[in-house]
Amino acid sequence: MADQFTASARAYSNIALIKYWGKRDESLNLPAVGSLSLTLSDLYSDTRVRFDPDLTEDLIALDDEAATAAPGKFSRFLDLVRQQSGMAHRAHIHSHNNFPTAAGLASSASGFAALALAATRAAGLELSPRELSILARQGSGSAARSIFGGLVLMHRGEREDGQDAYAEPICPSNAWPLHMTIGVVDTRRKRTGSTQGMRDSAASAPFYTSWVESSAADLEAGRQAVKARDFTRLGELAEHSCLKMHGLMLATRPGLIYWQGPTVAAMHAIRALRAQGTEAYFTIDAGPQIKVLHQPADQQAVADCLRAVDGIREIRATDAGPDAHPLP
Ligand code: DP6
Repeated sequence: MADQFTASARAYSNIALIKYWGKRDESLNLPAVGSLSLTLSDLYSDTRVRFDPDLTEDLIALDDEAATAAPGKFSRFLDLVRQQSGMAHRAHIHSHNNFPTAAGLASSASGFAALALAATRAAGLELSPRELSILARQGSGSAARSIFGGLVLMHRGEREDGQDAYAEPICPSNAWPLHMTIGVVDTRRKRTGSTQGMRDSAASAPFYTSWVESSAADLEAGRQAVKARDFTRLGELAEHSCLKMHGLMLATRPGLIYWQGPTVAAMHAIRALRAQGTEAYFTIDAGPQIKVLHQPADQQAVADCLRAVDGIREIRATDAGPDAHPLP
């Protein structure tokens, strides 16, 4: 009987090359801008959901921690699944990341994508990938992208009900061998999460409107670069989008400074490497980690370059990952 309400899924983390920052609607979590990302093969979340008629509240156990009452964000997410399936039971969520949680390595992306897939299957629903993307978005904007592998484009959408704010795959992982090497600087939880940071930027950063207005052109250029398999163009756009987003973050009140000393040192090191002829481009999210986009042949050069930066504690080399999928 219990098995009937149980399912597990794995979803892979993704890193945006054209960034998402800002919401056009908070309640449905609709992004103010579209985005373009690379799903990663080696960083993932495994999530098991078991709906249980005997439970009076949702429970969650993250990694090896004991189960506790699920925070509102997770319960509200499960409510969406309960509404769609008509099944009212509370659930146990058990989730494990094979990388540090909430430290700018996109754990909410893989976490909510895996939860969307596991919870809907446990509730007896068979959603299409697009429907799953729309559902995952309501947990975390970047999670909408982790439903798919390879290069993924997230639509901002225009509709108020959010039905056109979903991600879609634009280049499967085996169609263009892209690599990403991550320099880990600090794995402690970040001080200001993305949701609060975005709220602050929209309310106070003087460039917020320009950020939103200029993003459509970046996204279209990114899409064209992917279509043409133009690595240089995609890399240049990625670095630009990252720096533009961090410019906006810095101009937010209170200023959002996600970089640490080694992050900045690594940015310069990657630019110096590029000046010597190795094509590598950095991107950074709401945390101090640096992520470097490069081609397979440059794996060693990029890893050596990051390793030489004081304060980079760990290097993780990864390439393009697959779609989210059920686990047995
Ligand atoms: C900087 O998807 O974590 O990583 O929708 O509020 O959960 P919420 O935000 P989240 O934001 C990601 C921001 C980013 C850029 C990106 O991934 O596009």
